[in-house]
Amino acid sequence: MQIMMETKNNLHLYIPRDTITATVSRLAGEITADYRDKNPLLVGVLKGGIVFLADLIRCLDFPLEIDCIKVSSYGAGQQSSGTVSVVQGLNSEVSGRHVLVVEDIADTGITLSFLMTYLQEKSPASLRLCVLLDKPAQRRCDLHIDYIGLTVPDKFLVGYGLDCSEKYRNLPDIWVMEG
Ligand code: IMP
Ligand code: MG
Repeated sequence: MQIMMETKNNLHLYIPRDTITATVSRLAGEITADYRDKNPLLVGVLKGGIVFLADLIRCLDFPLEIDCIKVSSYGAGQQSSGTVSVVQGLNSEVSGRHVLVVEDIADTGITLSFLMTYLQEKSPASLRLCVLLDKPAQRRCDLHIDYIGLTVPDKFLVGYGLDCSEKYRNLPDIWVMEG
């Protein structure tokens, strides 16, 4: 992975937008091969996953639907509270659908393993997970990820949907936050 050390206060450019674009495009190819005839329901995880979802679906040239779900596990700042709940559920019927969860990052895996169990209980025809970034160093539960964009080290990242206390989601690149 290309690492650039351009500095923006305490932010260091880590994944430039060109790399993100190429990664989204590669994932879209894999997802197209598996879902082109399945009219899948792509479930974006609010709020962080929506930037990735928005870019991903514009690379998918076949019928699909989208919905969003909001799961809360983190307080303000960088540490997980470890408690997960669904704050805002889906409007779509999940039963019998091919469901693909689309999320920005898997860290401890607590949020996503909770969410996958929650959705599995709604009897989808299939259920898979796509994350742009996988940060396996702090994994605390068994989480199977079907589509991984990039594997990243144990650093706090912001931009491209990822926030720190709601800031920086709008940055087009992904930055490492230090301090
Ligand atoms: P997990 O339950 O620890 O896997 O946490 C997943 C959620 O934590 C992600 O959806 C993000 O919202 C947030 N998160 C984890 N790592 C980072 C990071 O490096 N930057 C920003 N948010 C993060
Ligand atoms: Mg998130």
